[in-house]
Amino acid sequence: MAKIAIIGTGYVGLASAVGFAHLGHDVVGIDIDKEKITKLSRGKSPIYEKDMEVFLKKSLKKKKIQFSTDYSKVGSSKFVFLCLPTPQLEDGAADISFILESSKMLSRHLKQSSTIVIKSTVPVNTWKLVKEKIDRDDVAIVSNPEFLREGTALQDFFKPDRIVVGSTDEVKAKEVSSLYKAKKAKIVFTDNTSAEIIKYASNSFLAIKLSFVNEIAAYAESTDANALEVLNAMGLDKRIGKDFLKPGPGWGGMCFPKDVSALKESAREKNVPIPLLDAALESNLKTHARIVEKCKKALGGSLKDKKISVWGLSFKANTDDIRFSPAISVIERLILEGAQISSFDPIVKSVENLSMKVSADIEQNVTGADAIVLLTEWQEFKEIDPKEISDLVTQKIIIDSRNLLNKNKWEKAGFTFIGNGYN
Ligand SMILES: NC(=O)c1ccc[n+]([C@@H]2O[C@H](COP(=O)([O-])OP(=O)(O)OC[C@H]3O[C@@H](n4cnc5c(N)ncnc54)[C@H](O)[C@@H]3O)[C@@H](O)[C@H]2O)c1
Repeated sequence: MAKIAIIGTGYVGLASAVGFAHLGHDVVGIDIDKEKITKLSRGKSPIYEKDMEVFLKKSLKKKKIQFSTDYSKVGSSKFVFLCLPTPQLEDGAADISFILESSKMLSRHLKQSSTIVIKSTVPVNTWKLVKEKIDRDDVAIVSNPEFLREGTALQDFFKPDRIVVGSTDEVKAKEVSSLYKAKKAKIVFTDNTSAEIIKYASNSFLAIKLSFVNEIAAYAESTDANALEVLNAMGLDKRIGKDFLKPGPGWGGMCFPKDVSALKESAREKNVPIPLLDAALESNLKTHARIVEKCKKALGGSLKDKKISVWGLSFKANTDDIRFSPAISVIERLILEGAQISSFDPIVKSVENLSMKVSADIEQNVTGADAIVLLTEWQEFKEIDPKEISDLVTQKIIIDSRNLLNKNKWEKAGFTFIGNGYN
């Protein structure tokens, strides 16, 4: 079993810390956020993530995990994972200052012949800058980008599709890969720079795929076709694959938008622009706008003073993360059109800087609504009985941007049901 330090205990760092501790390693999680560290030390997860608290508590009980704000606690760790934020700068590029500052601070605390593992999503050649900041010949740098998805973070940690390990040092790369004990995962050994690009290229490919799907949905709506049938048939072709073929209100979250922008910026810097990325970003904004247009059309052309009940705030189901959530982007546009918003999300109970009501329950949320708009695919929304809310709304109109609900059930209850990708 190895001694592992995790720097940054956010979505990725916490899942990795708890995952490695569960595998039997001795883990210390380090973060500059004191409140987070206090919560974690008491067995409370600061994020909503399936099974996180159960696994966290188990590892604390077995003394396999501890948390601290003190960088000197990395001292005895053989592997130090950087799980720090790499947010988007104003020009679209990734901000790697958290990574570089942390590397500088770590340098004097690292044990002899330890390994720095970069798990954050970073632009090409960041590993070289980390090496410079660490400035120690005995310390190896391994690039090990993370692919977990919020909502299934622990499941993805234990059963990843692949583990990418990039390094110039084969021995260290093997050591890092063996920490995961993921017998079924394909392990891809490569160089650091390729590892860095694999992550950006993967997320950007998925974002482009989703943008295309949403454009096909918009196109199908202008015809007699049903995009759901079109996409289903497309997915039967193994070269296309059946995943990521569902229309929605646009893609978002903390990864896709910033990773597409960062790759775009990095390619532009190298004088090899990738216009597909610009197109995917532009198309995504059009998708947010298209959902607003659907509301407008359903309500006779204007949203001024219309009461809209929004279902879902997080960027996808099973997470509390609202960073770059398409739901928020759609709500902002609805507000600009003059609508009054009452939102409901099973987990997210407050949103800063948005002038809307956040309802405590569905009844409160739909009372007086001129239209309901479903924006996040929480399974809870499927359980809502349209008959039970039909007397509460002002107009029986529901727009299901995720195609989650049963159209027949809602139509039987007298609602005008508007899906995504068909008429
Ligand atoms: N969230 C995801 O689904 C996901 C998936 C794969 C990869 N990634 C990538 O992983 C990285 C981390 O993402 P995240 O979503 O976990 O971020 P996050 O914002 O949830 O967590 C980052 C943590 O780092 C801490 N931190 C900031 N500066 C620090 C410092 N100097 N020392 C110690 N701790 C510090 C913050 O307090 C925070 O707890 C990013 O590069 C992201 O792109 C994220």
